[in-house]
Order: sequence, then structure tokens, then C-alpha cells
Amino acid sequence: MTQNDKKQRVAEAALPYIDDDMVVGVGTGSTVNFFIELLATIKHRIDGAVASSAITEELLKQHHIPVISLNSVNELSVYIDGADEATKHLQLIKGGGGALTREKIVAAASKKFVCIIDDSKFVDVLGRFPLPVEVIPMAQSYVAREIVKLGGQPVLRAGFTTDNGNIILDVQGLQILQPSELEAALNNITGVVSNGLFARRPADVLLIAGDQTIQTIT
Ligand code: A5P
Repeated sequence: MTQNDKKQRVAEAALPYIDDDMVVGVGTGSTVNFFIELLATIKHRIDGAVASSAITEELLKQHHIPVISLNSVNELSVYIDGADEATKHLQLIKGGGGALTREKIVAAASKKFVCIIDDSKFVDVLGRFPLPVEVIPMAQSYVAREIVKLGGQPVLRAGFTTDNGNIILDVQGLQILQPSELEAALNNITGVVSNGLFARRPADVLLIAGDQTIQTIT
């Protein structure tokens, strides 16, 4: 089974989490793109979707799924998104696509976060995937120096600007044994907008596509 087959199957496994008349939070990335195609087939059943990025908003519109602003809903019932790495504790690294800040906001506003991955992303310890950190452009050098003090090697994501007009530093060389602590420490650096660790608000459900089955961890 190819990785894309797994992404398709795990996207299908997320569909039962969508109930009638819901507003659905929709993440960003190639796995979620499969989910958006499936969501389009039941779009008459839902009230609409809140997008976690400009690119997802565009895709939702292409599929004629009503896009709703997060500011016009109180709480989202469910948020479906992928991840770059996930552990059995449902803690994640996200932001490979650069949408981490909006993804974090949508996750924070959601009652249930269902994370969909293929088994290549399931790890014992987070950190092999470079940890994305969104930074206000003028703070780039200062934040990079502070990250080095925390033991990471920050690399500027060249030619990339986030939906919020900021830069991304991808932090290599981390073995993240205490994700919640590192998430807070990075957020405490002045000039950091957010970072791709989803440990303080982890997923509530992790669906993992393997060769034969979908594993569910809650
Ligand atoms: C987007 O910024 C990311 O957080 C994605 O959710 C993550 O990178 C997973 O993307 P893929 O499904 O494309 O691997």
C-alpha cells in the first residue's frame, strides 16, 4: 500500500466523526486534502467549515463547502488535521506546511481534535522532523540565538512567508523528551508567534493508517 493509499484510508476513517449540522474545523496538508474531497460528498449535511489556512480555504471553496469564520462560531465540535509526527500520548509536531499558528488556534477552539496520519509519522520521541517555529521577521536573529540556547539548530525556511506574514525557523537536532515544557519555553521567547509542538493541547483521537488496518488511540 502506498503512502497516498494510507492517507486516503485514514481520511475515510475520520468521516464518522462528522455529525449532521456541524461546523467542521479543517486542517492543512496532503492528508487533509483527501479528507476535503470526502467532506465534499457530505457537504449538504454540515453547516460549513472553518479553515486553518488560506490554501485549505481555497480548496474548500473549490468544493463548494461553505467557509465560516472562526469568529462567527462559539466552539467547534470537531477538528480534523494531519501531523508531521505523533506519539502514543497524542502529542504532535505540526507545521510542515507552515500553517501551525492557525492550526493551533482552530485546535484550541475545538472540542475534539481528530488527528489523521499514516504510520510513517508515528514515533516514540518527537524531534526527528524539524520543529517549525513561526517568528516575527524582525526577531529572526534574536529568536534563533535563543533557540540555540535551548539546544536546537534553527534553519530559516527559505522563500516562505506564513499566512500571517511571518517567517518559519525549522529547528533541527532536538530530541523532545518533555514536549509541554519545550512548547512553553519556545512560546516564551519574545518574537515567537507559535511553535509546531501540540503537547499542551494534544489530539484527542489519533487515527493511524497501517498496511492492513487503522489504529485508533484515544
Ligand atoms: C501543515 O502546516 C501541517 O501541520 C500539516 O498538518 C502536516 O504537515 C501534515 O501534512 P501532510 O498531511 O501533508 O503530511
